Amino acid sequence: MKIGIIGTGHMGRALGTGWARSGHAVLFGSRDRAKAESAAAAAPSARAGSFAEAAAFGEVVLYTVRDVLPSALLGRADALDGRVVIDCNNRTLGDDGNPSLFRFDRPLPERSSAEIIAEDCPGARVVKAFNTIPSPVIELPRERLASHGVSVFVGADDAGAKAVVIGLAEELGFIGVDAGGLAHAHLVEAAADLLRLEIGPLGRGPYATLSLHVLPEA
Ligand SMILES: NC(=O)c1ccc[n+]([C@@H]2O[C@H](COP(=O)([O-])OP(=O)(O)OC[C@H]3O[C@@H](n4cnc5c(N)ncnc54)[C@H](OP(=O)(O)O)[C@@H]3O)[C@@H](O)[C@H]2O)c1
Repeated sequence: MKIGIIGTGHMGRALGTGWARSGHAVLFGSRDRAKAESAAAAAPSARAGSFAEAAAFGEVVLYTVRDVLPSALLGRADALDGRVVIDCNNRTLGDDGNPSLFRFDRPLPERSSAEIIAEDCPGARVVKAFNTIPSPVIELPRERLASHGVSVFVGADDAGAKAVVIGLAEELGFIGVDAGGLAHAHLVEAAADLLRLEIGPLGRGPYATLSLHVLPEA
C-alpha cells in the first residue's frame, strides 16, 4: 500500500517507520525537506517530500498536524479526495513539552477533530485512529507489543476505510477495535484525554495504554 505521512513529528515518524518496516511504500512529508529526509533515512525504502507530495502519493494518508485544516495546509480542499485519511490528533491541553502542565478542567470540544477534518475534506475517507496510542508504544518491537493486546480504536463512516486501518494497526501488533462512526469520534478523543491524565499528572508514563477487553460471560 502507498502511505503518505503528513508531519514528521513523533506520530508521523513512529507510524511511518512501522509501516515501512511492514513493507509498505511510505513517503514522509514535512515543511522541512531535511526533516523529511531524516525520517525517510530511518525507514526502509521510504521517500521524502513535502506535505502536498505526501497527500498526492498516499492511498492512505496519516494526518498528524493538530489544529490546522488540511485544506489550509495543502492549499486546496480536494487534495485528499478518495484517500483513506487517518486522523490521530488530540486536542491541545497545555504544554506538550511538559505533560504535567496539561489542563483537564476544560470542557470537551463540541466537535471532534475527525469530524472537522471530514467536513473540511468532503472527498476524503476519514478514519479516527491511533490517538490513544503514545508514540513510544508504537515504536516497540511488534512481537513485544502484540503480547499485550493493545487496542487501537478505529472510528469511520466508511466501512472499507475502517477495515484498511484495522489491518494497518494489526500489522504493527495492535488489536483494531471498531469504535463506531465519525459521530462517535469525540468519545475516542475523550478516551485519549483520560489516558493523557494517567500518563502525565498521574505519573504512569509514556508506556501507559488503554484497551477494550471483553470478558467471557461465565
Ligand atoms: N506524541 C504522541 O505520543 C501522540 C499520541 C497520540 C496522539 N497524538 C496526537 O497526534 C498529533 C501529532 O502529535 P505529535 O506528537 O506527532 O506532534 P509533533 O511531534 O509536534 O508533530 C506534528 C508535526 O506536524 C507538523 N506541524 C506542526 N505544526 C504545524 C503547523 N502550524 N503548520 C504545519 N505543520 C505543522 C510538523 O511537521 P514537520 O515538522 O514535518 O513540518 C510537526 O512535526 C497531535 O494532535 C497529538 O495530540 C500524539
